[in-house]
Amino acid sequence: MEKSYHKLLDNNKKWVADQLSIDPTYFDKLAQSQHPEYLWIGCSDSRVPANQITGTQPGDVFVHRNIANMVIHSDMNMLSVLSYAVEVLKVKHIIVCGHYGCGGVMAAMENKQFGLIDNWLRHIKDVYRLHYKELNSIQDKKQKADRLVELNVIEQVQDLGKTSIVQNAWKREQPLHLHGWVYDVKDGLIKDLDVNFKGTDDLHSVFHLD
Ligand code: CO
Repeated sequence: MEKSYHKLLDNNKKWVADQLSIDPTYFDKLAQSQHPEYLWIGCSDSRVPANQITGTQPGDVFVHRNIANMVIHSDMNMLSVLSYAVEVLKVKHIIVCGHYGCGGVMAAMENKQFGLIDNWLRHIKDVYRLHYKELNSIQDKKQKADRLVELNVIEQVQDLGKTSIVQNAWKREQPLHLHGWVYDVKDGLIKDLDVNFKGTDDLHSVFHLD
């Protein structure tokens, strides 16, 4: 078998040389610290790379990715990323970015067993159940999946707002906006779902934490 991964290491050397030819101090500057303004919570899908699709550079975006861009309250990985991003890096914006054609979302619409991942997909099924009236009114399967992708993003934005990490930041009057976006793998464009959370008032009162 050809060692295809060698190509990645070769690419890396070329990338380093390119960066240094533009700015000889490029890595010296990046090595000092990071001050990203954004936390990106996206899908692990290989077609949705946070930096490339937003025209951002190393140092610009703190990134967390998992299957179907989920914000699950018992996920220590997500919570640790969120806590560090908000409390230490003090990012100003958190973007949950889903994407049309998401395999995780489509699998969650099925009744098949897929194995271990079913436990993860069940959180998406909860979103389906919450919005079943709207979703059941959509006949076309692809349109229904697209809408579930959007609703799932909106729910994940809400779930971010429910965390004590985000609510405590708002209480400190730390500027922190939550956004919900969907990327379209077919044309490369990002749609802003206009779910902008800026404070606890944007959440149902049962989730308000004193
Ligand atoms: Co996906």
